[in-house]
Amino acid sequence: MVKRRIVEILRSGQPDESLLIQGWVRTKRELKGFSFIEVNDGSSLASLQVVMNQDLPDYEAIIKKLNTGASVEVTGVLVPSQGKGQRIELKAETVKVYGEADPETYPLQKKRHSYEFLRTIGHLRSRTNSFGAVFRVRNACATAIHQFFQERGFLWVHTPIITASDCEGAGELFNVTGLNLKDIPRTENNAVDYAQDFFGRPTYLTVSGQLEAEVMAMAFSNVYTFGPTFRAENSNTSRHLAEFWMVEPEMAFCDLDGDMDLAEAFLKHVFKYVLETCPEDMEFFNQRIDDTVLSTADNIINNEFQRLTYTEAISLLEKADVKFEYPVSWGLDLQSEHERYLAEQLFKKPVIVCDYPAKIKAFYMRLSDDEKTVRAMDILAPKIGEIIGGSQREERLDVLEKRIIAQGMQPEDLWWYLDLRRYGTVPHAGFGLGFERLVQFMTGMGNIRDVIPFPRTPQSAEF
Ligand code: 4AD
Ligand code: MG
Repeated sequence: MVKRRIVEILRSGQPDESLLIQGWVRTKRELKGFSFIEVNDGSSLASLQVVMNQDLPDYEAIIKKLNTGASVEVTGVLVPSQGKGQRIELKAETVKVYGEADPETYPLQKKRHSYEFLRTIGHLRSRTNSFGAVFRVRNACATAIHQFFQERGFLWVHTPIITASDCEGAGELFNVTGLNLKDIPRTENNAVDYAQDFFGRPTYLTVSGQLEAEVMAMAFSNVYTFGPTFRAENSNTSRHLAEFWMVEPEMAFCDLDGDMDLAEAFLKHVFKYVLETCPEDMEFFNQRIDDTVLSTADNIINNEFQRLTYTEAISLLEKADVKFEYPVSWGLDLQSEHERYLAEQLFKKPVIVCDYPAKIKAFYMRLSDDEKTVRAMDILAPKIGEIIGGSQREERLDVLEKRIIAQGMQPEDLWWYLDLRRYGTVPHAGFGLGFERLVQFMTGMGNIRDVIPFPRTPQSAEF
């Protein structure tokens, strides 16, 4: 008997086909002489309807076990469905129950559960319609990302998760240690003696793969890294995770304009791919989560993003007739409310803000001739705020050294990074896309905890 995925059966199954399915029961309806169950195997939003006649062997006993959540294997023949709502259904010939799910205790009964509640059952929530759709779309986003870069000849490089440097210089690092925390070795002046630690020095979980991606770009021209990154920032918001995935392309022989062009083409590609490959899931988000999801996707694909400088953004914010919580003035960083005002209210589409004050940006960004701003760019999305952060990198050794010192860091610690400027330096640029923020933007999901299977946030690392 051929085993088939439910998504394929619903799309192209033909009457009289004999086949086998495996999955989990979503609902059961008992009628006189026969019953229906809906079986879902995660391959699609829709479930397959299975009809069971009372002449099936052990009918009564099996029906009793087929509660929501039970795992089953069904063999049978596809038949045109008599009822509304589906083209085809499976007439069961054999039904095997793998594991039952007690209706008294199984938490996912047939009613709407809040996302807050579902977070408390992170090990089961993927079996719901919403999370099924989210994680299929997340998978499609990842596929689209690789496709975009591979088609353009970018090399996928794997940057380390354990590092000794703080790429963003923000000090939001998780320490990595093999030391026994109950008996920490100390130096003479009572500091932690890292010489005795696993790596013989302080190490951390990476906040970004950028510095190592730059190393690889100086050999392969165009590269990207896509992996987990970590920030120990105590931000309990709907846009922050302590562990999130980041996509970071890096291009040699490229300036900030090329970087912005790539980022815009990249977002358009991912939206297009997801609309084409996950139409039912996207329709679901539009109906159930946020009725602007499809029009937003259309807007992204078909319109140019708005580009403006930080200085222009500040003057627009100063003229805005809304009251912001945080002050607006040249030199201060944009807050989420400012970013959202620009993207959501003013331009109603993604906005690329460039040329930020040097003082509020990381050491590696290229200093402009005005010596006040750096060639940085952020892409701000409606409802999300910053979704991409990128820059042209400082390729001049002397300027870079000064910037490192000005930010209170030690050039010696970054000797290998500085070597890239000593040997065969070139103008280069890249950006980082917060993968979960992209999935939020795509699906309209309000909380970032609901677009990653196992969210890590302050005080929370269950599952
Ligand atoms: O702007 P960020 O800090 O930039 C970098 O890390 C650069 N090194 C990237 C590069 O140029 N290669 O972070 C990039 C993006 C942000 O725009 C945001 O979308 C996301 O990462 N991000 C987070 N997403 C979820 N939770 C957090 N705590 C995040 N912090 C940043
Ligand atoms: Mg940023």
